[in-house]
Amino acid sequence: MHIEDKILNLKKKRNAVILAHYYQDEDIQDIADYVGDSLDLSRKAANTSCDTIVFCGVKFMAEVAKILNPMKNVIIPDLNAGCSLEQSCPSHSFKKFKEENPNHLIISYINCSAEIKALSDIIVTSSNAKKIIDQLPNNENIIFAPDQHLGSYLNKITGRNMLLWRGSCIVHETFSEKEIVKLKIRNPKSELIAHPECPEEILRHAEHIGSTSSLLRYTENSGSNSFIVATEPHIIHQMKKRAPQKEFIIAPGNDGSCSCSNCPFMELNTMEKLYHCLENNTPSIDMNSVLMRSAKKPLIKMLEMS
Ligand code: 13P
Ligand code: SF4
Repeated sequence: MHIEDKILNLKKKRNAVILAHYYQDEDIQDIADYVGDSLDLSRKAANTSCDTIVFCGVKFMAEVAKILNPMKNVIIPDLNAGCSLEQSCPSHSFKKFKEENPNHLIISYINCSAEIKALSDIIVTSSNAKKIIDQLPNNENIIFAPDQHLGSYLNKITGRNMLLWRGSCIVHETFSEKEIVKLKIRNPKSELIAHPECPEEILRHAEHIGSTSSLLRYTENSGSNSFIVATEPHIIHQMKKRAPQKEFIIAPGNDGSCSCSNCPFMELNTMEKLYHCLENNTPSIDMNSVLMRSAKKPLIKMLEMS
């Protein structure tokens, strides 16, 4: 029996739903019940009636599924699938930063640990951040963590002056402005699309900036037939499905190549590990219930405001 059939049989036996992020391997995206961005997947996790959620993404995403649905069994193919943004914001240092800057509302990007979520007032994703910030009073003092690039971009488009934690994503920091500009000159009809986790020197050349689902919608609806994609390249699988006639070029890094822009954490999940996690019902996300309750509040606030 093929591994795909074995996974589907086990999924049925366990009454499980498979959620996958756009950065997962193509075969994982194809077997998933839902493929989406962080916000879509949080909503699916909050509303599922299945007994088990198999989360094919990174650990903080699976933790969000568990926090929003604590009675469900949440499993992940590889528990080591972390995130550099999460790692760039340790909770003890952030606590100190928060104490040094009192009277600030804390807005945290969903790419952070449960401990950081518990220290926050509102969680945002790149899909809903502007909408949520725009609902807050203009004179509100805000700390934004952990992504400095997304934070600067949000400051620019909302006219705020949020105090930024200086974290970043190793994947979105690998793109080279010089190589992208050279590529644009060689492909004048190609549009640059970029995730807001990219530094400003990349974003300033982009025709469209947005979350993974926003980039996907843009490639489908834009009149252009060619795109330079400045985000994790596995999303191109969905872009090609929706617009097979269009061309997608992976944005280059410093050496002019692009293999460096695969997310090393997302890549830890494989079809074999997906099969084994369904077979053994492990590794599962187990969290302290007090931490889960504290981290849930800002997540619910996000779902209410978005
Ligand atoms: P999205 O919410 O846009 O899918 O982003 C998630 C992510 O990890 C980007 O690096
Ligand atoms: Fe984290 Fe960056 Fe990977 Fe997204 S691409 S999961 S932000 S390391």
